[in-house]
Amino acid sequence: MSSVVTARAGAVQAAAARLMERCGTLATITEKPGELLRTFLSPAMDEVHRTIRPWMEAAGMTVTVDRAGNLHGLWGAGDAPRLVIGSHLDTVPNAGAYDGVLGVLMGLALLEASAEQRYGFAIEVLGFSDEEGTRFGVPFLGSRALVDELNEALLASVDENNLSVASALRDFAIRRPETADVRLSRHCAAYLEFHIEQGPILENRNLALGIVEGLAGQSRCRVEFQGAAGHAGTNPMNLRRDALAGAAEWIVATEALARGCENAVATVGRIAAEPGGVNVIPALVRCTLDARHPSDAIRSQLVRDILNDAQAIGTRRGLQVNVERYHEQAAVGFDAKLVGLAERAAVRAGHTTMRMTGGAGHDAMVMAPHVPTAMMFMRTPGGISHHPDESVAEEDVAAAIHTGLYFLEEFESMVRGKEGEKHA
Ligand code: GLV
Ligand code: MN
Ligand code: MN
Repeated sequence: MSSVVTARAGAVQAAAARLMERCGTLATITEKPGELLRTFLSPAMDEVHRTIRPWMEAAGMTVTVDRAGNLHGLWGAGDAPRLVIGSHLDTVPNAGAYDGVLGVLMGLALLEASAEQRYGFAIEVLGFSDEEGTRFGVPFLGSRALVDELNEALLASVDENNLSVASALRDFAIRRPETADVRLSRHCAAYLEFHIEQGPILENRNLALGIVEGLAGQSRCRVEFQGAAGHAGTNPMNLRRDALAGAAEWIVATEALARGCENAVATVGRIAAEPGGVNVIPALVRCTLDARHPSDAIRSQLVRDILNDAQAIGTRRGLQVNVERYHEQAAVGFDAKLVGLAERAAVRAGHTTMRMTGGAGHDAMVMAPHVPTAMMFMRTPGGISHHPDESVAEEDVAAAIHTGLYFLEEFESMVRGKEGEKHA
């Protein structure tokens, strides 16, 4: 083995070990004692920024936080073509240590592992402030702000304290007056996101890495069943309007519809019944629906069928059904050239990969319509994610860093080719 190859292998191993340790450090920064929880614009996010900043600065980056709470670390000239490598720093409730954070730290790890290398492009590492939508129920607030897609409806969404996104942004600007404008640099030439797969496919195929060609679209709705409360002992079964029994029937019907639709998934993840007495017939049930499919047309039809079922069940049971469709995210296909680059980089690093479509939501969905985008997945043991047992093997992280270094080389050739074309 040549000394250059040995040095690179050493740098990759060291970067992977450091990244794992950093994920562990960030997993201790939480806004809820006893579990990992970090939400949009929370003080825990401020602490994450304070923790990552010196790591970025030591790697030669200029660090800023924008007014939407996104963390930016820029290496290289501000006016050079820029490769943005990012993911998110927020979490679901009771989260694992890798969803999101890993992708942000991958950008930093790549810079550190290639310290001796000089690229003809700039690298921006981006830590988005909200992808999960935990605080306001609507996802991608950080990336949507960056691409100027925070519309009135999103700004009016409220958290459990009835505080709107708009007022949370105003409060954040007062608490963090040093924050910069929220803007995707016009020099951004590509967006690359590394993420754990969060599912079982790569493990099943015995592969460390997957090349993501696109992501499934998603719809979210609030579905309410309104019946009538009553005494649990005095109302015969045939004279009740039990909202919870209606919701239960609908949930099972939803599962059956999704099972019957290839590649579809549908989840009723939240349900709350009122008044909630042991001996009171439930009068009001609030549910959420999350439905996904790689084809937007099939997803739309599935959601229509699920909501028609809700109405039919409501009519049969004398319940009023109210539906609010509050989130639609179209499926995305990633940039063919960048996907090819990622695949070539993996081959050069000596890793067999597979192409796949992701089922989770990622900031890359929001970035893809604005800038050529690609994603790479890392194997997730047991497919476990959105759970404290979420994990990733250090050797798979090393495989991703190794591949990422070749990606940077491939990207350099692409950028140089484009510059050459411009001057020819
Ligand atoms: C986020 O991880 C989502 O897919 O909902
Ligand atoms: Mn997640
Ligand atoms: Mn994520």
